[in-house]
Amino acid sequence: MVKIGQIEINGLLALAPMAGVTDIAFRQICREMGAAYTCTEMVSAKALVYNDAKTKSLLLTGENEHPCAAQIFGSEPEIMG
Ligand SMILES: Cc1cc2nc3c(=O)[nH]c(=O)nc-3n(C[C@H](O)[C@H](O)[C@H](O)COP(=O)(O)O)c2cc1C
Repeated sequence: MVKIGQIEINGLLALAPMAGVTDIAFRQICREMGAAYTCTEMVSAKALVYNDAKTKSLLLTGENEHPCAAQIFGSEPEIMG
């Protein structure tokens, strides 16, 4: 078992983040195939700050999808924060 802070990952398989690939449907299939840890697609921090609905939908996770990491990107510290 791997632990990241308080988060326990109970399995040996992790799904790497892949922009344009690791959407919720793909991650669900990977969970069914044994992934113990998944990661969203890359999400723009700036688009989140501007409340972009499509961007927000990239952060939707499945009911039992835990742990799932969100990968955000940006270049402005205050926006990232
Ligand atoms: C199509 C594709 C998209 C990727 N997108 C991301 C990404 O958005 N963020 C990221 O950190 N890595 C991204 N990667 C890198 C992968 O997460 C991973 O680190 C890389 O494929 C090496 O893993 P491997 O040695 O198991 O192949 C991407 C890789 C591929 C093939």
